[in-house]
Amino acid sequence: METVILKADRKNILKCAEMLRNGDVVAFPTETVYGLGANALDGDAAKKIFKAKGRPATNPLIIHVADKHQIDDVAYVSDAAKKLIDKFMPGALTLVLPKKSNVPDIVTAGFDTVAVRMPDHPVALRLISEAGVPVCAPSANTSARPSPTQAEHVYDDLNGKIPVILDGGMCPLGLESTIVDMTKTPPKVLRAGAVDIDKVAAEIGELDTEKVMVDTLSALKVPVGYVPKAELVFSAYYDNMSEVINKYYDSSENMHGSRPVIFCRNENADKYGDRKVMLMGGSVTEYAKLLFERIREAEKSDYNLIIAEGVPMGGMGTTLLSRLIKLSGGKVI
Ligand code: TXA
Ligand code: MG
Repeated sequence: METVILKADRKNILKCAEMLRNGDVVAFPTETVYGLGANALDGDAAKKIFKAKGRPATNPLIIHVADKHQIDDVAYVSDAAKKLIDKFMPGALTLVLPKKSNVPDIVTAGFDTVAVRMPDHPVALRLISEAGVPVCAPSANTSARPSPTQAEHVYDDLNGKIPVILDGGMCPLGLESTIVDMTKTPPKVLRAGAVDIDKVAAEIGELDTEKVMVDTLSALKVPVGYVPKAELVFSAYYDNMSEVINKYYDSSENMHGSRPVIFCRNENADKYGDRKVMLMGGSVTEYAKLLFERIREAEKSDYNLIIAEGVPMGGMGTTLLSRLIKLSGGKVI
């Protein structure tokens, strides 16, 4: 199969919407990362997503809607869920809710719950509303690769496996949505993502964050998620972080075949002398936004060791640290 990249103009969005209606898959941009979408009410279409990504059938998909009311078509909405929908949607918050029976089992991996979000991206919203059906979509990477934040990343992973990629440029947030399971009391955070979990808690009170912590810690023992082309390690956050990083860089540089690069905040760039650095912006949010993109860039530039600066815990720092731990398999220096 040949994979074409189409600019996300009006004509091409309509074409892709028709493909979705006809049971094809389409990669498309959202404000978080690119998704690989199919008609969420068509089990055969959804099956194509699992095949293209090499995704285990046990891992359920998020259903994307173009309108808050469309959530009622696939899920039962509680009062607390309604509060979060009104506050955060469209946006990078995914809610797990009791599912309605029209959602095929393959989409939810047989669970009686369904994950739903309304993306805050004009191309995604237009595509879903023109398709006239809810769209199930995981991130459009091969399983175990970093999520794609540009059309080119999708192409690198899925070329030959999907018919089309709608190119809407770079994803503005660059990392995945925050997921909260509203079927649990208190609601349970399943993934720390682009919406700060403290802001979610401020709306509905107590949240169970144990899973995020346990998953993050268990990644220290069993590396999950990312299969590295470049090894990634990161520094704990402290005052003399740059000294520790420089030492690690110098000792690894002396090892045969090692080509290290440092991921650093802009303001720290001059602490690393002549060593190779890649800039991660001026804030934790920017760092989080650039992380997946810079990893792919580093791999393409043939660096084989990424030494990433740490950040303080709290807010988006917690999200970023959970990604760094996952990507590094817990290799802290
Ligand atoms: O930002 C995002 O969330 C992106 C864009 C494309 O929307 N999507 C995304 O999808 O990251 P994916 O499939 O890569 O991650 C979705 C996560 C998976 O870990 C899956 O296990 C979980 O959501 N999930 C989906 N449905 C669920 C359910 N019913 N119960 C619990 N977890 C669920
Ligand atoms: Mg994913």
